[in-house]
Amino acid sequence: MEERMVSGEVHETEELEEFSLRPGTLSQYIGQSTVKENLKVFIEAAVMREESLDHVLLYGPPGLGKTTLAMIIANEMGVQLRTTSGPAVERPGDLAAVLTALEPGDVLFIDEIHRLPRAVEEVLYPAMEDFFLDIVIGKGPSARSVKLDLPPFTLVGATTRAGMLSSPLRDRFGVMSRLEYYTEAELHEIVLRTAEVLDVEIHKTASYEVARRARGTPRIANRLLRRIRDFAQVRGDGSISIDITNEALDLLQVDKLGLDEIDHKLLKTMIEKFRGGPVGLDTLAATIGEESHTIEDVYEPYLMQIGFMQRTPRGRTASASAYHHFQMEVPD
Ligand SMILES: Nc1ncnc2c1ncn2[C@@H]1O[C@H](COP(=O)(O)OP(=O)(O)OP(=O)(O)O)[C@@H](O)[C@H]1O
Ligand SMILES: [Mg+2]
Repeated sequence: MEERMVSGEVHETEELEEFSLRPGTLSQYIGQSTVKENLKVFIEAAVMREESLDHVLLYGPPGLGKTTLAMIIANEMGVQLRTTSGPAVERPGDLAAVLTALEPGDVLFIDEIHRLPRAVEEVLYPAMEDFFLDIVIGKGPSARSVKLDLPPFTLVGATTRAGMLSSPLRDRFGVMSRLEYYTEAELHEIVLRTAEVLDVEIHKTASYEVARRARGTPRIANRLLRRIRDFAQVRGDGSISIDITNEALDLLQVDKLGLDEIDHKLLKTMIEKFRGGPVGLDTLAATIGEESHTIEDVYEPYLMQIGFMQRTPRGRTASASAYHHFQMEVPD
């Protein structure tokens, strides 16, 4: 399947480019002021006490800066960052290998932590709480349980689906931070910063336009900017004007609010086939030929954020502003 221009998820080709665009310190990290303020205090206190930082859970939609923040935490604490992910840790022994390699104070980042197998999670509980490992080695009659002390460490977990975390795991995080969609002004700052890193000139009206169409998501802002830069190079003089920006984004089928063809199909289906709803999620999914959970996790969150769609007990509804977006008349 072709990757969506406006998806918050990372594209396969982007990972390296993204790395170079990541801010390295809290003060360079734009937006998310509540999360930042809290972390700043906790980090300072931990550094003063010469202790490891409490375990941190970061959650929220893709592309809002969870991985970036994990790197910043390690950086600000002056410790090493070790990275793994829920699906990569298959057995308790895999986790034991990671944990025993940590040095005092290190940050262990587990991405997609909701995908850790249950048996692995259970090894994590005492490790998080009292810094020891309790694992069974061997099988059958020769199996025995081994206890190992671990160095104090900080677990930073990231997930797009906090609801899928088991409550014993959730309870072991001292800090839980929810990342929010960015405002246009914050995205504008991010666009300017990225343009500087990429060493490309961008006009003010153009940078605002990119921010407006980036769906509250830094990853999308950066992606749009890179694509527009290509257009500017090939069709213009290399600098990014508002005309080049509009031309590029129109060709990429990203509309004035950052919505694409799939969003249009979803909203128009609700409006034209179900009179704006309420329509059940499964019915809606079947009608547009998508999986229910894809609508729920991927398409719907931003449409709800901008107030185009609502979840009601009887199903999804399209709001008056969605009708207005398509210049359609709102029914009584
Ligand atoms: N606050 C920010 N300031 C500047 N750039 C940011 C900020 N947050 C994220 N970015 C940029 O957005 C891109 C995506 O961020 P990141 O990879 O941290 O998102 P994520 O939440 O981990 O996504 P996923 O859920 O897919 O793992 C990075 O390249 C980073 O440069
Ligand atoms: Mg990430």
